[in-house]
Amino acid sequence: MKTINVQQFLEKFKHFSTEDFNDLTYAMIKPDAFEAKEEILRDIEGRGFEIVFTADLQLSDSLARDFYSEHDGKSFFERLIRQMTDGPVVILILRKKGDVPCFQAWRDELGKTNPADAAEGTLRKVYTQKLFGGPEAYKEERATNCFHGADSVASVIREASLVLYDMAMSA
Ligand code: CMP
Repeated sequence: MKTINVQQFLEKFKHFSTEDFNDLTYAMIKPDAFEAKEEILRDIEGRGFEIVFTADLQLSDSLARDFYSEHDGKSFFERLIRQMTDGPVVILILRKKGDVPCFQAWRDELGKTNPADAAEGTLRKVYTQKLFGGPEAYKEERATNCFHGADSVASVIREASLVLYDMAMSA
């Protein structure tokens, strides 16, 4: 894994075409899984994803609210914001070329949003088991489903722009 800083990545990002974005996704390791990040990064590479950019970031309350604005007003929104700002996240831009867009390949690796429904071997199933002893913890205050994955090419562009430009401005 080559390490580049956010300004260097944004220089490349500005020139990506729609076809480039098909092979990229925006992902995060959430705060409750942060302690396992080294193992998780190896696992991600083992699953065939190239880590194009990674950085640890403490999300501010306002960035978290912007990021998840589509969920504003839902019953779980305030808890989601508390969870996502509880500690650092690992920001990831991943690349994988294949028959399906990269965002979809990543979501297939993640499994269902609720880890209790996620298939065996998927990242959410594996890491909720390792870190919390099982998917039941997802209902508790601190525990999440460990990972985020953008749900479309448009979301990859929106989420990566929102977070990376915020990072660059605060650097
Ligand atoms: P994520 O993939 O990061 O996108 C939105 C997040 O909201 C999701 O993962 C969960 O962490 C959370 N979420 C979505 N639906 C629910 C729900 N029904 N109950 C609790 N949290 C949810």
